[in-house]
Amino acid sequence: MKAYLGEVLISRDEIKKKVKELAAMISKDYEGKDPIFIGVLKGAIIFMADLLRSIPYSVFVDFMAVSSYGDATETSGIVKIDKDLDTDIKGRHVLIVEDIIDSGLTLKYLLGLLSSRNPASLKVCALLNKPARRKVDVPVAYLGFDIPPEFVVGYGLDFAGMYRNLPDIHILRFEEQ
Ligand code: IMP
Ligand code: MG
Repeated sequence: MKAYLGEVLISRDEIKKKVKELAAMISKDYEGKDPIFIGVLKGAIIFMADLLRSIPYSVFVDFMAVSSYGDATETSGIVKIDKDLDTDIKGRHVLIVEDIIDSGLTLKYLLGLLSSRNPASLKVCALLNKPARRKVDVPVAYLGFDIPPEFVVGYGLDFAGMYRNLPDIHILRFEEQ
């Protein structure tokens, strides 16, 4: 199957507006709580960078790297920790920043792992959500957009490592050969 870049699903302007709205809610909720924002590598890098720059006070930043996909477009259900946190989150207010929730398996695993470390609170902020593809229920406190069950790329999201740098979110199309 050959993949090619399809139409823009969410434009850079729509993303910008949404990131500002999410940041406003998050800033208000976490003010005075000395939160830790945890970006999930690599997909969340662009969203995380934009979100952080819209928070008007200092927040602590850390990253985790997880993999479950390989180069396919379906989750394997098996989540591997490629990079753990550098920070002890015990007693801290933790916000996980994710690019997209598809089956929910990655997030479910992360929530289980991080809650076992006894944070004061643990919430999720995700830019995109594909409700039609959910396999396990996961709580998302801050959500950007619900999208149809299509594979999307751009604004941090990749296909086999490609397209992360595109400023808009596109649908990826597949050509049968
Ligand atoms: P889940 O475990 O099935 O919820 O998958 C979550 C992870 O799969 C996300 O953090 C992404 O890295 C990746 N993923 C899911 N859907 C897409 C997509 O449409 N485009 C790019 N990556 C995706
Ligand atoms: Mg991800």
